[in-house]
Amino acid sequence: MRHLMSPLDFTTEELDKLFDLANDIEKNPKKYAHICDDKIMATCFYEPSTRTRLSFESAMTRLGGRVIGFSDANSSSAAKGESVSDTIRVISCYADICAMRHPKEGAPMVASEKSLIPVINAGDGGHQHPTQTLTDLLTIRSMKGRLNNFTIGLCGDLKFGRTVHSLINALVRYEGIKFIFISPEELRVPDYITDMLKENNIPYEEVIRLEQVMPQLDLLYMTRVQKERFFNEEDYIRLKDFYILDTVKMELAKEDMLVLHPLPRVNEISVEVDNDPRAAYFAQAQYGVYVRMALILTLLELVD
Ligand code: CP
Repeated sequence: MRHLMSPLDFTTEELDKLFDLANDIEKNPKKYAHICDDKIMATCFYEPSTRTRLSFESAMTRLGGRVIGFSDANSSSAAKGESVSDTIRVISCYADICAMRHPKEGAPMVASEKSLIPVINAGDGGHQHPTQTLTDLLTIRSMKGRLNNFTIGLCGDLKFGRTVHSLINALVRYEGIKFIFISPEELRVPDYITDMLKENNIPYEEVIRLEQVMPQLDLLYMTRVQKERFFNEEDYIRLKDFYILDTVKMELAKEDMLVLHPLPRVNEISVEVDNDPRAAYFAQAQYGVYVRMALILTLLELVD
């Protein structure tokens, strides 16, 4: 039995196979509409979510399966003090596969160790968000035709942003990737990530001003400054609008640069940018359904 805790749990060859499957699902949805007719997915979300939970639910429903779960820790027995280990042992009696989001780093991993069914990390604190990374990679591969030879700018909260940490981990395995980290001093990417890049001779730069690097970028990955990760409200208020991508800044970018964002956004991308053909973040949300369908089929061993 296989779980998904980190994007590195799949080799690049396995990822290619997963993305091929996701692209086939996109083109031939009817072929897959009943594969999970007798399967149940549990979505156990101890933290708020729109995209991840609902795209998993949409994915399982589009495969013919059914979904049970909770979207708030307070409506589960966690509110009475039940551990994730006990919860997953019980969920294993009710469902065939489980997607779990938790505010504590490592909680889905703890659950996977006691689980009798595949567990998918749907985001654990500021640590990892592997299915967002699968979504990001599928979006890039589908829209650009490759996953190598990019200069990618990651902008915003690079300290707490789990989507950023997961994506960097995944992209270092591809040739010709250069990272440009764009953040205020307080939200710089953690040292363990820059140490890993140095050890592997992966080029990166750290800058504060987005305008300075816009013309170099093939991909721009915007992120939200996450209120829920701050201990101090004043720091959040000071930093929340540090970056706002607008049409003026987009004029500095390459004609084929893609703007990605895991969403939700607050103010960091002006709504006027939504009309720019380079804005890929809503297509990205759609790819999230196809890749989660492919992931469910793969973890349940329902495809070759
Ligand atoms: N991208 C993402 O994880 O969004 P949600 O928090 O809405 O699931």
